[in-house]
Order: sequence, then structure tokens, then C-alpha cells
Amino acid sequence: MLGLPYGMMDGKSDFYAHSARRFETSGHRRARHALRRWRVLIWTALCAGILFLINGVPLSSNFTLSTDLTAERVLYEGLQQCYETVNHPKGETAPSADRHNPRWNAVSGQKTPIAIQNATLFDGETTLPYSVDIVFDAGVVRSVTPTNSNNSLPEDAEIINVHGKHVTPGLVDLHSHHALLPFPSLSATSDANERPLLGPITPFVRATDGFTPSDPAIKLIASGGVTSSLVLPGSANIVGGQAYPVKNLPYPGAAAEPVIDELLLEDGIQESQRQRYLKMACGENPRRVYGHTRMGLAWLLRKELNKAKELLEKQEAWCAAASKLQGEGSEFRFRLRQRDQVSAFVEREGPRPDSFDLETFLALLRGEINLNVHCYTPEDLETMLSVLHEFGVHPRAFHHALEAWQVPELLKRLEPNVTIATFADSALYKAEAYDASLQAPKILHEHGVRVALKSDHTGESDYAKYLLDQASVAHSYGLLTDAALQSVTSIPAESMQQGHRIGYMRLGYDADLVIWDSHPLQVGATAVEVFIDGRPLLRKDLKEISKQLEPTYREPQGSLDIRQQAPATRPLMKAEERGEVCKRIQEGAAKGTVVFTGIKEALLDVPGLDPNNEHSELVLVLEANKVPCLGSKLTCLSQSNLQSSNNDTEIPLQNGYITPGLIAFGNNLGIQDIPSEPSTGDGTSKSGIEAVHFAKYGVHLHGKGKAFGRARIGGATKAVTPPHGSGVLQGVSVGIRTGPGETLLDGGVWRDEVALHFSIGQGAKVGSGIETIRRVLEQGNKGEGDDVFIRAANESLPVVVQAYNPDDIAQLILIKRDFPRVNLVIYGGHGAALLAKPLADADIPVILTGNRGAPDTWEKKDTLPGPPLSDSPAKILLDAGVLLGLAAKDDSKIHGLAREARWAGKFAGLDDTEAIRLVSTNFDEILGLSSKAEGDGEGYKGDFVLWEGNPLSGEGSVVISVKEDGSISDCWPEVD
Ligand SMILES: *[C@@H]1O[C@H](CO)[C@@H](O)[C@H](O)[C@H]1NC(C)=O
Ligand SMILES: *[C@@H]1O[C@H](CO)[C@@H](O)[C@H](O)[C@H]1NC(C)=O
Ligand SMILES: *[C@@H]1O[C@H](CO)[C@@H](O)[C@H](O)[C@H]1NC(C)=O
Repeated sequence: MLGLPYGMMDGKSDFYAHSARRFETSGHRRARHALRRWRVLIWTALCAGILFLINGVPLSSNFTLSTDLTAERVLYEGLQQCYETVNHPKGETAPSADRHNPRWNAVSGQKTPIAIQNATLFDGETTLPYSVDIVFDAGVVRSVTPTNSNNSLPEDAEIINVHGKHVTPGLVDLHSHHALLPFPSLSATSDANERPLLGPITPFVRATDGFTPSDPAIKLIASGGVTSSLVLPGSANIVGGQAYPVKNLPYPGAAAEPVIDELLLEDGIQESQRQRYLKMACGENPRRVYGHTRMGLAWLLRKELNKAKELLEKQEAWCAAASKLQGEGSEFRFRLRQRDQVSAFVEREGPRPDSFDLETFLALLRGEINLNVHCYTPEDLETMLSVLHEFGVHPRAFHHALEAWQVPELLKRLEPNVTIATFADSALYKAEAYDASLQAPKILHEHGVRVALKSDHTGESDYAKYLLDQASVAHSYGLLTDAALQSVTSIPAESMQQGHRIGYMRLGYDADLVIWDSHPLQVGATAVEVFIDGRPLLRKDLKEISKQLEPTYREPQGSLDIRQQAPATRPLMKAEERGEVCKRIQEGAAKGTVVFTGIKEALLDVPGLDPNNEHSELVLVLEANKVPCLGSKLTCLSQSNLQSSNNDTEIPLQNGYITPGLIAFGNNLGIQDIPSEPSTGDGTSKSGIEAVHFAKYGVHLHGKGKAFGRARIGGATKAVTPPHGSGVLQGVSVGIRTGPGETLLDGGVWRDEVALHFSIGQGAKVGSGIETIRRVLEQGNKGEGDDVFIRAANESLPVVVQAYNPDDIAQLILIKRDFPRVNLVIYGGHGAALLAKPLADADIPVILTGNRGAPDTWEKKDTLPGPPLSDSPAKILLDAGVLLGLAAKDDSKIHGLAREARWAGKFAGLDDTEAIRLVSTNFDEILGLSSKAEGDGEGYKGDFVLWEGNPLSGEGSVVISVKEDGSISDCWPEVD
């Protein structure tokens, strides 16, 4: 096709100059003249051709003009391509007040201007020290001005007073797979990886060709404040294909139909002017999928890039030669003189060499493609950079990169502008994710490496809706406030080369913004309203917002968050200081008394404490071999010889908190260190009715793996671990301690057998799991079968059933009705909220992993979306009176149990003392462990944890963990 972009050639000599150097060593002018001439020439030729056609004169092959014309056409088209490839046009790159949002349309686009008044604004870089009014119209921000500066807001504007609440730009996710892996996951629509038929190098495939624009995740993700995402192909291939940025506005077009193109951030921009993106991957994934070693993978990539490089060189040589074909002088003389040479040239050189397959790589080599590479380990990062640099290619971002924190200086030296797009805490799931650090974002940032936090969004485990929570976690582990918020706004936007439209809330930017109910880094910060291209996502009547945000307004449940300040980061202590303090504590406790002062709150039942006297200072006294005293100074002093002793060691805290020891339920602790590496675990048992397996025989407690470290810094002193089972009947779980010195021979097992575990639904995939459970209980009832079945049937051993689907859960309610003595517990429980009342009536507790669950599978498709789109499952269950525990399914998130409790508590109207029970003492009740003193008025007995800072808000670090008997099991645990 002859698309003749004449306009592009005029007045763009700088573009041209830059490009001309690539294939033309002589001056720009000459090359430009050459193209002008050929342009005229081809028009002449075309006109001649058309005349022939019109006059009905057949073109004869002997006719010289036709031969010449063909040659000239070949030459001209080639030159045109030479020109186009080196003059890759750029769209707009600078924001301006009168900008047009290319996605806007007159039917569904924003029609009335909106003014947001009195906002505390994080503008993409920092939080402004004054409050502002933001006006946006037709999907573009038209002004951002200090509140009350006699702003003349547009007369027709809808005004939303947010009363000082936090506003941020819409969040930007640099790595998502929604639309490629739509909810709920079905094999028919999972299109993230083109494999294996086209081989491991597929730069030519385009993510958009696999999009499902009706993916319900789009709205869910947007409700988390994530307004833009880069949707990439998966990482099975070394080169996975082309990626596309989208805006998460469902059905945005004029006709509100599911149209792929209308999802794209760059919809409305000429295709030739859009930014292009490519996804690559290294390490375990392509290795696993194609069976190559990492050596082979590097070679394959080099080989293919080299093919492209050779072609590029041929193209450039052709272009250089073709553009030299002209001489100086008039066009007419030129034509006469050169016609023969043109024919000769075309005969000799052929048309400009090209390859449809290699087109993407050619553009990559020309620097036109924004390259995003999935690599984890230092050695893989180094190898990938070495391969790419061999071909002059520079990646914009490394993704996942969980071990990049080990080599910030190497990265800076080799690729100074690269962005590390990583997870705040998701890790440990495979070998290359095992040496991750919770402090990675902080460390990278402190070395001057740009950090973006991103979701991945393959399902619930990396759900893009909760992208902001990662910024909050990273902040908790030391990433400063501005950097944490930048990591989900401007940094990914810049890395995507869309920093002129998204990632900032400034004049001329796309009107993508979020009003938050609390400071965005507070645990559980939730969108009050989300605007995308100026269009509200959550409600039609915007007046409700002002009303809801009035300082005097209280929601019916009183849940509107009042925490408008940034939380503090967790206190960190250097390793030497930690050693020093812990030595003092341990020695002090051994020979005398240790007194911890400055304890602000005890989030558990303390005997003799006057809960009304908020100002009474609490102390914790540890004495050798004695039950510790926690209470007012007076109480504890009378119990110990504190005053008379000169040996007491005082450890003053600034902001001490005490919680019960938390419980990690259902994780791999002690049974499997790295899920993808069988050799790091006990093996998968095939428990069945014939043979029940016990985790107590398979558990490993020497050299505890990294997940234990995360449990300890999260204050989880105990874990309940089931055996690894693949069937319905999984086996009997063991209760283990997480402390560093607690092994099989040293109190590492606190309960041999905690519960009998089953898994039903898609997790087990073996006929009807319900049948198996009933058979087991029937046998047990009759006193037959395994001893375990008898205990399960008579309630001395709880029966924990992993179930998600509401119908599976309904079946369990029927089982409970038939076997009322069974202590039946539901684990997982995504669909439980739909059956809250019957569950409460049946007295079935739930250990919920899905309070922030996703409808990512068919059996979970009815999972509630959660705030701001619905109530939270935890709230519904608690309101109905269900006994509730919370569990983190992912081992790498165990450190966040207290945060999870705050999150659930926020939307269920619980205070911190009530909330922390969800991850601690409620398990005693649920599993019949009861370490609570029975009616003797002594309050809490059991493990407890002393923190500096509040763990529920992510501001606390464990100072010590203390066992029920008063001995210290851990001191200042710090991972990584
Ligand atoms: C903005 O809102 C805050 C919180 O309600 C209030 O204290 C302040 O006076 C408001 N500022 C203006 C200029 O209205
Ligand atoms: C890094 O970014 C800066 C600023 O955009 C730019 O001037 C510089 O050339 C870039 N360096 C590399 C190696 O890309
Ligand atoms: C104080 O410490 C010393 C030496 O460690 C010990 O001999 C003495 O018994 C301790 N006194 C008390 C009151 O614990």
C-alpha cells in the first residue's frame, strides 16, 4: 500500500536528521532531496499507470515504461519504508490545559465539568502541603489550584467537596494479565502464553489478539483505584509478545459494547503513533515450559536477535544505496539519467529486504519498543542485560525481579534508567523467588533505582484490585511515603512512557483520579470514588460523595476510615543493636527481672486492668522461670521483687503493644519450603480412607525456611500445618512453633494432631468429596475404621474442610445436621458469606482465606467483590454470628496477619482488640485448643507478643515473643 505521509516530511528535519544518519552517511539535505524527488516521481508514474488503465490500454511486459515503473515503484516503496522506519512518529508527549483526551467521545465521554474541592492531593510526586480544587472536563484535568483562592470554578461544574480527604492520580499497574486471563479462569479463554507451537520466541504475537474485553475483573480492578494497567503476555516464552496499556473502564465506548480497542489507553490515537511494548522472560518459566537450560535460552535469544540485526543491517545498506541513486540537478534530468540505474539497482538488490516475523525485533533494535523483561535473580538480570546490550537494546523495566535488591549497583551501572517492577511481599513460591526481601523496595530506592510495585494479576494470589496494599506493605518495610505512592503511580507511568497522560494529577493529564477514605497507605484504604477519563466508576449521583465525606457524617456501620495521616514505617534495628538488646533481655531474664516499660496498649484480656483508665502505663515483667506479669506497674511490682532487686533490666519502649501470639493456619510451614521444588518438602501424600497421613511425622523444623522468618516478624508464634495431600482426605495437621530454636526435640511441636483435613471442590477433583467425608464420619460413628475417624466423629478431633463454593458449603451444613457432634470447620470459605445465617445456626466456624478474595475460578465466581463494591465477607459472617478466623493462604504473606485482621476489622466495625482475635485466640475456640483460663478471672494465658508500634497498622515490629510459661522464644526477629 502506498500510504504517502507527505505531511510527516515537512518541517520535521530534526526527526529526519536523526534517522538519516542511520543509513546515510552524507548530509541530511541530500537524503531529503532524494525522497522528495522519488515522491514526485512515483506520483508521475502512478498517474501514468492510471491513465493506462482508464484508456483501457493493456500494460505490456515489453513496454519499457512499465518495467521502469515497476522498478521505480519497488524503489520508491522501499525508500518510503526506509523513511517511515527511521521517522517513527511520536504522538503527543506533553500535557496541556487544552489537550484532547483521545479516548473521549461525545456519547459516553465526560460531558459535565467536575470540580473536586478541598482535596489533600498526592500529585504523582508528593503530597501538596495545601489543599486543592481539581477541575476536569472532557476527560482532562483543566486546573489544580489551592482551595479557597477565589477559584472561579466553571459555572456548570458538578462540585464534590471531599473535606480534605486524600486524592491521588489513578493507580498504574505495570504488569497485569487481566483480559488475557479473564475471571473466572476457564481453559477456553486463558490466552496469556502462546505455547508451545510457535516456539519460545514469539515477538510477533499481540496481547490484544487474546483480549476478552468483557472480563469482569476490569471493574473490580478499577474499584481498587487502579485505572491503567499494562497488560502483558505471560512469561512462558523467552519473548512472549507485544503488550498493551489499557484503562480499566468497563465498556467505555459510545455503544457500551465489549470492544478490545476501546479498552486501550491509546484508543483514539493513530496506530502508527502509539507506543509499542514487548514482553520477554528469563529463568525458570521458559526453562520449565521448553526444557531448555538457561544457557540454551540465552543462545536462542541471541540467535534470533542476531537474525534481526543482520536483516536490519541489510535494510540499512539497501536504504543507503537506494538513497544514493540520485544525483544533483533537476528532477527531469534526474529521471532521464537515472531510470536505467533504477532498473539495474532493483534487479541487483531486489526490493528492500524485510520479514513479517522479525518486524517486532527490528523495531526493538531501532529503539522503538518499550521492553519489559521478567527476570528474578542477579545472574539472570546480568545475563539478560549482557545479551540485550550485545544488540544495543535497553529494557525499560525488569519485572518481578525479587532478587534485584541484591544488585542495585550492578543494575545502575549496566542500565541506569531501568525500573524494577516488583512485588512488595509475594515471594518464596519458587527457587528464583526465594531470596526475596521485604525490604527490597526500600533498598532499591535508597540506591537510586526506580521501584514500581505491580500486581501480575493471574488470579486471587496477585489480584490487581489490591495493588495499593503493596505500596502500603512496602512502606511498612521502609519505603518512604512519597516513593511508596510513586511506585504505583508516576514511576510505572514513566516506565510505560505514558507519564505525559497518567500517573500524575496535574494540569493537562487524563482525568483519572481516586478519592480515598483514608490516607492511601493506611491498611484497608479504599476508594470512595474512582474517575477514569473523568467518568465516575462507582455511582451516578456524585452529590452523595460530599455528604458521605462530611466530617460529622457517620456511616451506618461507623466504618468510614478516620485515619488521614500516613502510617509510620516499622521500627528497624541494625543487626548489631538487635544482638545487643536481645542479649540484655535474655541475660536479664535469666538472672533476674526484665521490665519493659512504655507499653501503650494490650490488645488482649489483662486481669486487673481498668480498661477505662486509658492512661495507666502498662509494664511487662519477665522473671526467670515464672509466669510473666503484664499489667499496671503497681500490680506487677507487688507480684515480683522488682523494687528490692538491683538486677532488673529495664527496656523502655516508645509505643509498645501486646497481642496474643498469632496463628498461621493452613500454610506449608515445616512441610514444604519451596512449593515448586519437591525436594524441599515432605512429598505429597496420597491420604485416603485406607491410610491417613500425619503431618507430625513429616514436619521439618531444623533450619526453618524463609516462611518461618516471615511468620516470626509477623508475630505468628504458632502454625497449624496439614500434610501435603492431593486428594479429598488430606490427613492430620500438626501444631508447630515458629521460634528459631524450637525443633522436634525442643518443644517445636505444641500439638501432635490438630485436625483432620479434607479438601473438596476443584482443589481435590476426586468425585464428590462430600461422599468421602460422609463415609469417614459414618465409619467413625460406628466406631469403625481408623482411630482418627472415630475421634473426628466424636468431636475430639476437629474436621477442617477446605471449600469455596456455596453449594459445597451448603453440603457441609447438611453434614453437620446429620453429624451434630462433629466439630466441623470450613477453611477457605469464599462462598460462606452467602450462607452466613445457616452457618451460624449450624454452629460451623469459618477460617476465611477469602476476605479479600477474587472470583477467579468457576467455583468461586460468586465471591463478593468486597468494598467499595459490596460488604466484606468477614463483616457479613461476623454480623451473622459466625465464629471467624482469618488465614493467609500464601506463605509469603504470613507476616501480614495482623494487617489482615485490621482490614477485616475496619469493614466489620471491630476495634483492634476484637480484630486481632481473628488471627489468634479465635483459633483456640475454633479448633478446641482452649489455652484460655477457664473462668478463673485471670484473663489471657498463652503465647503473647510484645511489639514496638501497632502491628495492625503495619507500624509494629516484634520485640519479643513469649511462651505461655514465660520463656522467650524469639527476640527482634528480622528476615532477609
Ligand atoms: C478542608 O477540609 C478540612 C477537613 O474537613 C477542614 O478542616 C478545612 O477547613 C477544609 N478547608 C477548606 C478550605 O474548606
Ligand atoms: C536515562 O534517562 C535520562 C533522563 O531521561 C536520559 O537523559 C539518559 O540518556 C538515559 N540514559 C540511558 C542510558 O538511557
Ligand atoms: C543479681 O545478680 C547477681 C549476679 O548475676 C546474683 O548473684 C544475684 O543473686 C542477683 N540478685 C537478685 C536479687 O536477683
